[in-house]
Amino acid sequence: MRFGTLLKSISAAAAVSAAAAAPAIAESAGPIDAQTWSFKGPLGYYDEMQLQHGLYVYQTRCQACHSLGLVRFASLEGLDVSEEALKALASTYEIPYINDDGDRDTRPGVLNDNFPWALDNPKRAIATYGKAPPDLSTMARSRIGGSDYIYALLTGYDEAHEQPEGAYYNKVMNVIKMPNPWPADMSDFEYPDGTRPSLDQQARDVTAFLNWTADPYLEERHQWGIIVVLYMLALTIISFLAYRVVAAKVYAKLEVEGGPDPEH
Ligand code: HEC
Repeated sequence: MRFGTLLKSISAAAAVSAAAAAPAIAESAGPIDAQTWSFKGPLGYYDEMQLQHGLYVYQTRCQACHSLGLVRFASLEGLDVSEEALKALASTYEIPYINDDGDRDTRPGVLNDNFPWALDNPKRAIATYGKAPPDLSTMARSRIGGSDYIYALLTGYDEAHEQPEGAYYNKVMNVIKMPNPWPADMSDFEYPDGTRPSLDQQARDVTAFLNWTADPYLEERHQWGIIVVLYMLALTIISFLAYRVVAAKVYAKLEVEGGPDPEH
C-alpha cells in the first residue's frame, strides 16, 4: 500500500517536472518527438532488415552529398549481409589512392576500405550548397536527441511554408541549406526486396541505419549489461548464503560459550 503511494507520488512529480521541461526543449530544439526504436532501452536491439533498407535509402538519397567515411565495408556484415554481397557493394565505389607514378588515381573498393569521402573538396561543397554536408558516420551521436533528431529533421520539410532566402525551411532547423531529400513522386520507389516504403518508413529506416553506423556495438553492450547484472545477482546470493553459514557457526559458538548477555 505504502509502496504504491510512493510510486504514485514519484510519477506525479515526474509528470510535473516533464511538463515544466517540455516547453524549454521545444523552444531550443524545435519539435522533436520521441519515436519508438527497436534499439532504445536496456534490451534494445537492431532489426537487420531495417538496417539493410536504411543502407539502401542512404545510397539512393543521401550519399550524393554525405559520406560515411568512418564506416568500413566489412563492418556491414553486422547488417547480416553476405561477404560476397559486401565485396560486390565495395567494388561499386571508387577509392582514391596514389598510384605507382605518384599520381592521384582511383580503384574499385575492397572489403577493408571505408566508404569514400563524398565531395572531398569542402570548398566545392560550400560553393554548391552554401554549407558542406557533414559526414554522417557519427551524426546520430553528435546531435542532442540522436535518432529522434535525425528523424524529425528528415520529416521536417514543409514546401508550403515560406522558404528562407537561398535555403530551405525545415521545422527542426528553420533555415537549412540541405535540400529536401525526398522527391515529390515516390510511387515507383521500392527496396531491393520489392517492398514499397512510405516517406516516413524510409526516414525511419535510414535513421536506424545511421544509429547503427554511430553505435554498431550497442547489442554487444546490452548483452554484457545483462551478463553483468546476472553475475552481480549470483554474487549477491552466494555472499548472502556464505554469510548465513558463517553467522550460523558464530552464533553456535556464542551459544556454547554462553553468548553475550543482551542486557549489558
Ligand atoms: C543535395 C545534397 C544533400 C542530400 C542529397 C542530403 N543532404 Fe543532408 N545535408 C546537406 C547539407 C548542405 C547540409 C548542411 C545543412 C546546414 O547546416 O544548413 C546537410 C545536413 C544534414 C544533417 C545535419 C543537420 C544538422 O544538425 O546540422 C543531417 C543529419 C543530414 N544532412 C542527413 C541527411 C540524410 C539522412 C540524407 C538522405 C536521406 C541527406 N542528408 C541528404 C546536403 C544534402
